[in-house]
Amino acid sequence: MNAVPATVAGLPTSDPANSPRFAVISGAQVRSTLDGRGKRIVKLVEDVYCLHGNGESVNPPSYFLRFPDRPSARIIALPASIGGQSRVDGLKWISSFPDNVTAGIPRASAVLILNDHDTGYPIACMEGSVISATRTAASAALAADWLSRGRPRPTSVGFFGTGLISRYIHTYLAETGWSFDEIGLFDLSADSAAGFRGYLERAGVQGQITEHKSAEQLIRSSDMVVFATVAGEPHVSELSWFGHRPLVLHVSLRDLAPEILLASTNVVDDIEHCLKANTSPHLAEELIGNRDFLLGTLFDVIAGRVSVPADRPVVFSPFGLGVLDLAVGKYVYDEWVSSGELQMIEGFFSELHRYG
Ligand SMILES: NC(=O)c1ccc[n+]([C@@H]2O[C@H](COP(=O)([O-])OP(=O)(O)OC[C@H]3O[C@@H](n4cnc5c(N)ncnc54)[C@H](O)[C@@H]3O)[C@@H](O)[C@H]2O)c1
Repeated sequence: MNAVPATVAGLPTSDPANSPRFAVISGAQVRSTLDGRGKRIVKLVEDVYCLHGNGESVNPPSYFLRFPDRPSARIIALPASIGGQSRVDGLKWISSFPDNVTAGIPRASAVLILNDHDTGYPIACMEGSVISATRTAASAALAADWLSRGRPRPTSVGFFGTGLISRYIHTYLAETGWSFDEIGLFDLSADSAAGFRGYLERAGVQGQITEHKSAEQLIRSSDMVVFATVAGEPHVSELSWFGHRPLVLHVSLRDLAPEILLASTNVVDDIEHCLKANTSPHLAEELIGNRDFLLGTLFDVIAGRVSVPADRPVVFSPFGLGVLDLAVGKYVYDEWVSSGELQMIEGFFSELHRYG
């Protein structure tokens, strides 16, 4: 790979000097761009939710590739297109292999492809798992902010499932101004809970850290509950555990029994996306035959179209939109273009004359 000025990347093919070029951005480069920029990325994600809510995006359903011989694994394709100032098209291709964790590597791995708006040529392939975790955490932090307005600000948080996504969410909450008197942890794996505690201690967090022995203890003692497990079907169904009306960031989407959702205020990122693939909101819709249990989208809350009542638990279930990956990926790409150090793959496109 050669580092070359990247101003030519993705320009139309009509000028031979500006032939399409292709860049590769590694995970280390992605991280160096995103580290410590929590507030900036949360604002970016908020802007993209608004763009999406206003119809300036294309975000088709995700495509799930599953395997009869590996039923717990999947690879998901998330194509998307965003308009606005930094318009770009692209695709996230993300694997989830939960057994990776026992082999010592993260569950998820991904690439993100960016395509040029004018020519359609792919302009970059980027490491995508950091971008994906980052946009997920930014979305959760944004939801925590908007959905806690109008109710006492949470002073205790509980992480239900203490893997990589919970770590990113904690980091993003901290970078956007949250601190907690109590941080609760619950995981089926003692090693995961201990690993998360180690991360918190290295990060120097204030407040008491408690590893709970039961799901009930964690939920009852947390004003804000983050679900980030790999559960495929609901395993929490006791409504009385939610009697203190917590704010629930239901990032793993399939933990809560429909009865919990039906007794809560429900906010999603995109209604059509979220009511699919056996998510808890999907199961709730199947149970009652309508969508009346949904208050609306996070964009509806941000735009002031709905207000969030404080008299029930509030549950945010984000399906995870490809437009968010694309926006964060384009942000990283633009930063590397500006630096003049984008790593181009010379000769990646080699058939550039129609008749040779
Ligand atoms: N909604 C979104 O946009 C979005 C985006 C990214 C990831 N996710 C989801 O976040 C989840 C977590 O991802 P990760 O990368 O952190 O996975 P991970 O494997 O690193 O961590 C998951 C943890 O959950 C624990 N766990 C599993 N079942 C449990 C249960 N029933 N009770 C308590 N703990 C349990 C596991 O032991 C593990 O420590 C996944 O389900 C993933 O699909 C959602």
